[in-house]
Amino acid sequence: MHPTAHVADLVVFGGTGDLSMRKLLPALFHSDRDGRLAPQTRVIAMSRGGLTDADFRGKVEAEVRPRLHSGDDEGWARFLGRLHHVSVDVGGPDHAGWRALTHLLAGRENIDRVFYLASPPMTFGPFCRGVQEAGLATPRSRVVLEKPLGRDLAGARRINDEVGAIFEERQIFRIDHYLGKETVQNLLVLRFANAFLEPVWNSLWIDHVQITAAESVGTPGRRGYYDQAGALRDMVQNHLLQLLCLVAMEPPSRNDRESIRDEKLKVLQSLRQIAGTEADRFTVRGQYVSGEVDGRAVPGYLDEPDHTAPTVASHRVETFTAIRAEVKNWRWAGVPFYLRTGKRMPHRRSEIVVQFKEVPHSIFPGGGPNRLVLRLGPSEGIHLHIMAKEPGAGEVVPRPVPLSLSFADTFRARVPEAYERLLMDVLSGNPTLFMRRDEVEAAWSWIDPIIATWESGGSPPEPYAAGTPGPAAARELLGRSGRAWYEEDLP
Ligand SMILES: NC(=O)c1ccc[n+]([C@@H]2O[C@H](COP(=O)([O-])OP(=O)(O)OC[C@H]3O[C@@H](n4cnc5c(N)ncnc54)[C@H](OP(=O)(O)O)[C@@H]3O)[C@@H](O)[C@H]2O)c1
Repeated sequence: MHPTAHVADLVVFGGTGDLSMRKLLPALFHSDRDGRLAPQTRVIAMSRGGLTDADFRGKVEAEVRPRLHSGDDEGWARFLGRLHHVSVDVGGPDHAGWRALTHLLAGRENIDRVFYLASPPMTFGPFCRGVQEAGLATPRSRVVLEKPLGRDLAGARRINDEVGAIFEERQIFRIDHYLGKETVQNLLVLRFANAFLEPVWNSLWIDHVQITAAESVGTPGRRGYYDQAGALRDMVQNHLLQLLCLVAMEPPSRNDRESIRDEKLKVLQSLRQIAGTEADRFTVRGQYVSGEVDGRAVPGYLDEPDHTAPTVASHRVETFTAIRAEVKNWRWAGVPFYLRTGKRMPHRRSEIVVQFKEVPHSIFPGGGPNRLVLRLGPSEGIHLHIMAKEPGAGEVVPRPVPLSLSFADTFRARVPEAYERLLMDVLSGNPTLFMRRDEVEAAWSWIDPIIATWESGGSPPEPYAAGTPGPAAARELLGRSGRAWYEEDLP
């Protein structure tokens, strides 16, 4: 067993849902296989499903195991033995359900107890109240909140107040799975464990930063959720702003639970507000229409198969957004941070590109800027593009070539999924990679004026064909200052 394995009861509320089946249970299985779960640790799934422990274990065996291609029978038997199921409906009084959970947890008050809320946000408050009324919130309890944390600042505050009425801030873990990605943690190591970057990590040397989270998938069957969210709320408010914070933050004095979050908060508070006419200049909205992705014809957003028909909201929701953000402080004054995310883009790709300024005076023809590309997925790795001379006689022409660090090849180990890392942090009580209340609210304070401007009328999102990198306006956002999105394919 790994020395950091803690004994815990992990109660997954919404434990039969898509997130649990696709992400949480596979992550827990891998952690178990790697010896990171103590033998007495249990996973208790909750839903309204009326399942027995045996039913739930059968469901996990049938739905999760095939995805993991695991032939490890002994490991599976051990993992399945940890699983339990309790039925409860937080939509109304369900005394039998809470009694069953109380019975299962009885006698284990002195071990860590984690309530993971993998359920719709409107259930967060009722669930926490149920926990309190059943007397199950112990001093060693923690609660994990999944996104979305509200649709705006007021909604986020409501959720934070509801959960905060029962749990202290130190017990609340707001998850952003991007922070669990290897490259993201490596960004911190790259910046703060190497001396050579710090002197050039500022507006004197860096021309601009691009942060892209592109998906090739669309939104079939998710209209109900997506019409209410859109790319800005779904991706920018949380994931992209968190990445921006890690690029832009000042070096923290310690790697402890508050220092990194304190520095991230300062970045969010330094973002220049975008509202009114500036939203037209500095933001782009798009919605995909039919096109081709990976050689396959796909429908537009409004024609995606779904059990609900498109509404007025469907016509106005953005499936793509690009934003030119600015961090107003000494280090970053004048350096644009371009954020971009979209559905039905040509490839799935998440990356941060830090583009340096060109040399002040070039003695060679051609050439170009240095770039540091942090690839979050697929194929996590770091690539520093330097100028090199192509071998051979004749004129010296510099060509950009990447110095590449692939985590999988270099460390010859399986790169763990983000949820594995984050779940182990929750179980061991380490909140460093989780968002604090003030961070979430500062992010919404920046997003809200953009949404208000978008919703106050104006034109609908610009159409873009599925399989293309967003609407033309996204290219112009950079093009008008002579810049371009980095689209090169890396190995
Ligand atoms: N899916 C993802 O990849 C993903 C990624 C990031 C965040 N999230 C967020 O995670 C949450 C769950 O997403 P999901 O896709 O897993 O949803 P889902 O497939 O609809 O699952 C929801 C789960 O919550 C349970 N549930 C719902 N209402 C309940 C109630 N009143 N009482 C008891 N249990 C209830 C459901 O079980 P029963 O219906 O059987 O009761 C089910 O287990 C959402 O907030 C979502 O935005 C999801």
